[in-house]
Amino acid sequence: MADGLAIAPDFSRRTPVVDPDDHHLYASLGCAAESLSIAARARGLSGEIGEAGAEGLIATLRPAQPEIGALFAAIPERQCTRSAYDGTRLTSEEVGVLAAEAKVHGVTAIWREGAAVEPILDLVIAGNTRQMENPAFVAELRKWIRFNGAQAARTGDGLYAAVSGNPTAPETIGRILFDAFFRIGPENDKYARHIRSSAGIFTLVAPSNDPAGWIAAGRAYQRMALRATAMGLRNAFVNQSVEEPAVRADLASLLDLDEMRPNLVFRVGRAPPMPRSLRRLPEAVMN
Ligand SMILES: Cc1cc2nc3c(=O)[nH]c(=O)nc-3n(C[C@H](O)[C@H](O)[C@H](O)COP(=O)(O)O)c2cc1C
Repeated sequence: MADGLAIAPDFSRRTPVVDPDDHHLYASLGCAAESLSIAARARGLSGEIGEAGAEGLIATLRPAQPEIGALFAAIPERQCTRSAYDGTRLTSEEVGVLAAEAKVHGVTAIWREGAAVEPILDLVIAGNTRQMENPAFVAELRKWIRFNGAQAARTGDGLYAAVSGNPTAPETIGRILFDAFFRIGPENDKYARHIRSSAGIFTLVAPSNDPAGWIAAGRAYQRMALRATAMGLRNAFVNQSVEEPAVRADLASLLDLDEMRPNLVFRVGRAPPMPRSLRRLPEAVMN
């Protein structure tokens, strides 16, 4: 395409156990599209995102007036920070500024803090327990873990052990350690600690339950994550509460969502940065 880019799903990288309907796959396209759009505008290109659907979406890149803002500066800093936070609260203004970023894409961001976080934590633990009791889930997760820096650098993808604060090891030993130490009790305790150390939890709800809506949820999340980064705040997903259909239904009723689907769930707070995830090179993902 001469003056644009098509951002398309790569179904060879599906994660069918945790994401059977490709919701997260489409949400991740939205995340990428949002960063691309913000970066394009900073570089003097239009970065307009066209209508999204099952084929993905198209970003037009025509010359335009450059627009450099805080979200652009936050792109290299943003990360999912999977650690305990410092327990401090957000002001209602901060919550409002973050939620407004979701509204840009028609997505509702529902905030819960203090005691109101506990029922969501219960659902994260319920989802996590179901997932960890499912051997197919554990096998899929194990396949995507990168046990050391060399493996992470070679593949340029997956979940590098160090980003979750876990020790690194040669691959064979890493797998043995994973099998020995990846246990429901300690994992659930970790999520409880992490969530209770956070200022609160956002749940994103897109206007439609289809690829267009899932992409909108991803775009909304990316704007919120970038805005949070610009404000000195950290975030991390706790999507166990939306990945298991029965648990997702409980979250929907907890939040009075009627027929709407809760798309993405993440905690926000303050903490030092963690090691970063690696990326595949542009030439590996573009053609
Ligand atoms: C749609 C979507 C859902 C995700 N869900 C989770 C999740 O439930 N738990 C988690 O630890 N990370 C989750 N991730 C985070 C990715 O693992 C993370 O973005 C990836 O490792 C890249 O790291 P970075 O965002 O820190 O650069 C999700 C990412 C996306 C795009």
